[in-house]
Amino acid sequence: MSGRFITLEGGEGAGKSSNLEWLAERLRAAGVAVTVTREPGGTELAERIRAVLLDPGPEPMADTTELLLVFAARAQHLAARIRPALARGDWVLCDRFMDATWAYQGAGRGLDRDAIAALESLVLEGLSPDRTLLFDVPVAQGMARAGKRSSPDRIEREAVAFFERVRQCYLDRAAAEPERFRVIDAGADLEAVRAQLETHLQEMLRWR
Ligand SMILES: Nc1ncnc2c1ncn2[C@@H]1O[C@H](COP(=O)(O)OP(=O)(O)OP(=O)(O)O)[C@@H](O)[C@H]1O
Ligand SMILES: [Mg+2]
Repeated sequence: MSGRFITLEGGEGAGKSSNLEWLAERLRAAGVAVTVTREPGGTELAERIRAVLLDPGPEPMADTTELLLVFAARAQHLAARIRPALARGDWVLCDRFMDATWAYQGAGRGLDRDAIAALESLVLEGLSPDRTLLFDVPVAQGMARAGKRSSPDRIEREAVAFFERVRQCYLDRAAAEPERFRVIDAGADLEAVRAQLETHLQEMLRWR
């Protein structure tokens, strides 16, 4: 038996975390066994790497360090959580995954694409999400939402231009892989976002 792998992507304040549990509950109500997780993180060890990644101190983090930490956390997450869940037939709902690395470390930081592709191949071993829900929101709107939360983490301190590159990268990737991606107009109110998600849920439930 093999489960399904669904990732939620998008910039800060797009609404990924706000809709993750709702999506999980809708799937459970339809009789699907669901594992809910997130990146960076998702296991005890990977969450420790997340804390290092997001902590603004004690010294500036080199971009390559950031890239390797992201992939170190992902390797652990895949080995200890995602692959076992898929193997027992769960549907895995993951808040951010590989597309986020292309968007943040690739487009945002400008790290070498060949290096990212090599690490992707090493760590993912060909695994790809069955569906990626891209929560697309204008940068200013997302930042205004996210700004209402706690103090900004190390990544959230980046300039607007960084997040514009992140958003464009996500949209480009969605356009390049229309079978995998579904783009959600996440600037709409929560009710309208959920109506869009409901359509995509019904489509996914037809996989069974
Ligand atoms: N459609 C919406 N309309 C208005 N506010 C929203 C909407 N969706 C989410 N929010 C609010 O915006 C804030 C950010 O949402 P959320 O934490 O879900 O974003 P996120 O995509 O997980 O962001 P991050 O990438 O920073 O974790 C929350 O306070 C949430 O309540
Ligand atoms: Mg979130």
